[in-house]
Amino acid sequence: MCGIIGYIGNKNAIPILINGLKRLEYRGYDSAGISFIGSNGIGVRRCAGKIKDLESSIRGQRLRGIIGVGHTRWATHGRPSERNAHPHRAGGIVVVHNGIIENYFELREALKKNGHVFTSETDTEVICHLILSYTKKGHGLEEATKKALKHLQGAYAIGIISESEPDRLVAVKNDSPLVIGMGRGEYFIASDIPAFLRYTKDVIILDNGEMATITRNGVEISDVFRDKPVKKKPVRITWSPSMAEKGGYRHFMLKEIYEQPRAIADTIRGRLSLEKAEVNLNEFSLKETLLKKLNKIFLVACGTSWHAALVGKYMIEDMARVPCEVDIASEFRYRKPIIPRGSLVIVITQSGETADTLAAQREAKRLGAKVLSICNVIGSTSPREADGVFFTHSGPEIGVASTKAFTTQLTALYLFSIALAKVRGALTAGAVRELFTDLLQLPEKVEEALRVNDTVLKIAKKFRHVRDFLYLGRGINYPIALEGALKLKEISYIHAEGYPAGEMKHGPIALIDNNMPVLALAPEDSVLEKIISNMEEVKTRGGKVIAVASEGNSKVLSRASHVVLMPRTNYYLTPIIFTIPLHLLAYHMAVLRKCNVDQPRNLAKSVTVE
Ligand code: F6R
Repeated sequence: MCGIIGYIGNKNAIPILINGLKRLEYRGYDSAGISFIGSNGIGVRRCAGKIKDLESSIRGQRLRGIIGVGHTRWATHGRPSERNAHPHRAGGIVVVHNGIIENYFELREALKKNGHVFTSETDTEVICHLILSYTKKGHGLEEATKKALKHLQGAYAIGIISESEPDRLVAVKNDSPLVIGMGRGEYFIASDIPAFLRYTKDVIILDNGEMATITRNGVEISDVFRDKPVKKKPVRITWSPSMAEKGGYRHFMLKEIYEQPRAIADTIRGRLSLEKAEVNLNEFSLKETLLKKLNKIFLVACGTSWHAALVGKYMIEDMARVPCEVDIASEFRYRKPIIPRGSLVIVITQSGETADTLAAQREAKRLGAKVLSICNVIGSTSPREADGVFFTHSGPEIGVASTKAFTTQLTALYLFSIALAKVRGALTAGAVRELFTDLLQLPEKVEEALRVNDTVLKIAKKFRHVRDFLYLGRGINYPIALEGALKLKEISYIHAEGYPAGEMKHGPIALIDNNMPVLALAPEDSVLEKIISNMEEVKTRGGKVIAVASEGNSKVLSRASHVVLMPRTNYYLTPIIFTIPLHLLAYHMAVLRKCNVDQPRNLAKSVTVE
């Protein structure tokens, strides 16, 4: 789990690499480094820590080079340290790598026997030595790389430069993301588009097994394993560079919370036909006949995306009456799931690169299911391997804690449920139009919901020192209780649990006292009275209740010490609205406790290892 960048052109590569690494820091941030070829040959600068540490370590050194590679790391093999930081070098070969070489140990032993000396504990270093061993046999960088790749098992996106061929940058991809930025007379490689978005919007997305040989005159792509050239057209990215920056907010997380009205509107855009009362599924590629015949749906994901999957079950079963099973991806892949004929597996993943989700997706396909990927990153692995895709259009999500990606996943699931219900005759055209009308009002409602920020900040100030927090929800909002608790845990390091409110008296009620705030989700729905009783139970035991309730709901006022009122919407959309104050609460608690909101300890944005 790392970010890589590479540059070849006529500008000084060093600031471009550093800048690109800053945009990739969300992929890992325990050590970093760059390498470049200048008038004195190859230079390598690395350090443990973040990009800003690397930047300060090279300040004043006047480094120059018009070709180079860089890396920001999240350790997999070998602890975070300067010695294990990338780029790695053997002779004149320098490599940056994102992924895991599964057979590195055997390869390293064999190379050692042939006299190669290793200086790090990483799996990556074997790549440099393998390429070096082929260049020593007289092969050029491109050919040597191809030969080296035949030995590698595992996942990799690699950038390579060579001192003896200072006018070419070689990049290869297999199971880890890699994109090429096409400038004028300058080219970039990176794990993700924001790394070079300020320089170019024209992008080539590499597929597995593809290698790019890049000079200042252009890019040549070949299929390494079939040994033949591949023609690829660049795609134009519509994100502006500022979309990938903080845009004036103190943290990416806050910026992304406030981007939700736009992100949701973009996810809806072009997908509704009010006249026909239909969801437009052009990109979807799953046939209507398949949807009609579905017997069962599995929803599979990790973390926050799994919470979206749980909400999806309520939506799909209620609207389309198709039975759903929800699985955590890391469980699904090992539990020998029974997938009857006519099953659809929906994988939900912001990044499209989560290792467990991809493994579950592949297992589902192996077992004969059709797979639909709900994903935010175009060009990532999950949608590319799926039978059908539904892209959420929330734009790049950089804060480690997922916010706008989550609410756009819920939006996508709402649209999918309506589409499925309509195709199967479970909803009339009139009902579909009503659901559409509510959805079209949603961006505005989210805008309105964001106005509770000051109220939430006051609540955060009041509870910033607590050690534990309980979140209660029922029905479709039970997963939102889980989501609120997860966010609080991961960014403010307060222990929090989410519970279905009805379960409280089966155990957690024993925890209730004056020091344990309880946040209760109380939208105006069929279980409102039940949740109000749960709030009473907490209150009578001396607990403090924070109620998040629908506007105009006076019943909760006397049962809660704090109330946050949310705009009303239909039942299926309440999880989106009710998530807003929970994400804001976690954010403010973390800021007040001086936690690193965008890069919480021990976490990385996309978990591309098991
Ligand atoms: C929590 C969070 C994670 C991710 C999880 C899955 O805020 O962001 O729990 O939701 O790692 O990631 P994706 O959706 O990229 O598969």
